[in-house]
Amino acid sequence: MKGIVLAGGSGSRLQPVTRAVSKQLLPVYDKPMIYYPISVLMLAGIRDIMIITTPTDMPAFERLLGDGSEWGLRFTYAEQTHPNGLAEAFLLGADHVGDDSVALVLGDNIFHGQGFSSLLCRAVDEVESGSGAILFGYPVRDPGRYGVGETDAAGRLVSIEEKPMRPKSSRAITGLYLYDNDVLALARQLTPSARGELEITDLNRAYIRRGTARVIDLDRGYAWLDTGTHDSLVEASQYVQLLEHRQGVRFACIEEIAMLQGWLSPEHALGQVHANSGYGDYVIEVATRAGRAAQVAPDPVPERERRDRVGPVRGA
Ligand code: G1P
Repeated sequence: MKGIVLAGGSGSRLQPVTRAVSKQLLPVYDKPMIYYPISVLMLAGIRDIMIITTPTDMPAFERLLGDGSEWGLRFTYAEQTHPNGLAEAFLLGADHVGDDSVALVLGDNIFHGQGFSSLLCRAVDEVESGSGAILFGYPVRDPGRYGVGETDAAGRLVSIEEKPMRPKSSRAITGLYLYDNDVLALARQLTPSARGELEITDLNRAYIRRGTARVIDLDRGYAWLDTGTHDSLVEASQYVQLLEHRQGVRFACIEEIAMLQGWLSPEHALGQVHANSGYGDYVIEVATRAGRAAQVAPDPVPERERRDRVGPVRGA
């Protein structure tokens, strides 16, 4: 499965903070916002990732992330020149996706929770071995701010509405979408909505019509955090800070996840990390520990279990 992170938009609700800096590069406590959605894709086992952003912001993303080889990943970039909607990602990313299935994650979505990695891997397996779309639902107090989905008893999506005045449920559809390869053709058939955008919700409706859109509910044990306003951005930072301080771990640490996945050796991680920041010191700590563990004995725990053992608190 290929990955796409959509990091466009003007960040108008965060002005003037976003006048000179892309929203998805703003810090959420100790790391740039985009680390969180990237780590979601990594936890799902995805290494080949396209970053879609505006022409103005692209150089900054390239400075931060490069070609991804530093983490055993592959990053490519595409420009979204106008805010033409989320579903345009599948037109801009068609060559990147090729014949594969694809996970789209919005660059400002933060997920966290116990067992998130195995849940993601199961969902990826399902899409890769079958067909259709998998979306993720999350109960919120204010569903009218999001896409809102209704499902049947089998978890099949039966309706979806974008920012409804009268939401049919409290289940928001999060900004993480897994699709089979048909998404490329379905996206080409979309026409712009009244606000002039290719809507992800229309794309999801196409899968509803086929009867192949499913929703996995993230229950109360998960956090799906908003970063859209000044307050919610601070709250997201505080959430990360609190958990990291309390547990002494960091989540969405992409070096750690890359090591866990076996994509980055502890030696490489140590060779390229910048000390002098809490984040850098943490990478040194986990890489040193991993390096020592590798010298003592190979880990007998199967890969997926291992990810979850270390991964749950770093569920993005
Ligand atoms: C977009 C989608 C919406 C989804 C949300 C998740 O809304 O259109 O369906 O629930 O992302 O973050 P936006 O945040 O672009 O208004």
